[in-house]
Amino acid sequence: MSTAMQDRDFHFTREHFEYFRRLSQDYSGIVVADNKYEMFYSRLTKRLRQLRLTSFDDYVDYLKKNKETEFTHFINALTTNLTSFFRENHHFQFLSNQVIPALMERNQRRISIWSAGCSIGEETYSIAMTLAEAAQEYNFTWEILATDIDTEVLGQARQGVYQLERVKNIPMNIKKRWFLKGKGSNEGYAKVSSELKKNIRFEQLNLIRDFGFKKTFDVIFCRNVVIYFDRNTKTDLVRKFAGCLSNDGYLILGHSESLHGISEQFRSIGNTIYARV
Ligand SMILES: C[S@@+](CC[C@H](N)C(=O)[O-])C[C@H]1O[C@@H](n2cnc3c(N)ncnc32)[C@H](O)[C@@H]1O
Repeated sequence: MSTAMQDRDFHFTREHFEYFRRLSQDYSGIVVADNKYEMFYSRLTKRLRQLRLTSFDDYVDYLKKNKETEFTHFINALTTNLTSFFRENHHFQFLSNQVIPALMERNQRRISIWSAGCSIGEETYSIAMTLAEAAQEYNFTWEILATDIDTEVLGQARQGVYQLERVKNIPMNIKKRWFLKGKGSNEGYAKVSSELKKNIRFEQLNLIRDFGFKKTFDVIFCRNVVIYFDRNTKTDLVRKFAGCLSNDGYLILGHSESLHGISEQFRSIGNTIYARV
């Protein structure tokens, strides 16, 4: 490999970068822009150190020889997991003010939601709190499937333990009902109550592969995920989503994502919320 960058602990070339970004795109659908060169270097360097490897050439060999096990670490290192509780709050308001009352009106007593690309679980627990709060008013049961490609963030999501700083914007009455404040060695942390967790299943799932299940959801949250995918990957994914949404189901995307020119199976109803047609 050639064209080395200077002043680095490890020899990292344009060829290494191209190899890694091709792998990333083929496996996860995530298209990696040119300006991610430095990010790749710093994130993958951490992995080299963990493995006590001394060069990126060795890491390429290692990846080839240990595809099954190393790929997970490789992808974990490269995903962007930014999230927060009640991020883009209008989506949770839409769920409680429109979706739930409409389902109750139709006498549907079980609500099923998919949090696709759930990261460390803050989106999932925001959905869960919205459902659990509404379930005190109406009489229904609910379940959430929460998935991500990244096994590390899924581990954190399953634990449901967050620094107090991260839960500070959740309204106090809601926080009191669904979180336990840590004491002693857990000081500074809040833990999601088991009551809230019991209806949630966290699973690893790569959105660009076949889903491997036949389920019907009332709402799919897939926010701030497809932004990293190319057009074909996005089109394919949205078609698969349409196939596992109920007839009156909704697909909710992130603030800078759109289905414009991507799918005729959905119509926009504003705020990056799409109704299945
Ligand atoms: C920026 S986070 C968004 C988290 C949350 N949905 C939100 O909006 O707050 C994007 C998540 O998508 C996941 N992701 C990326 N590519 C994926 C794929 N092919 N399959 C499943 N999850 C993927 C990443 O691991 C990451 O946790």
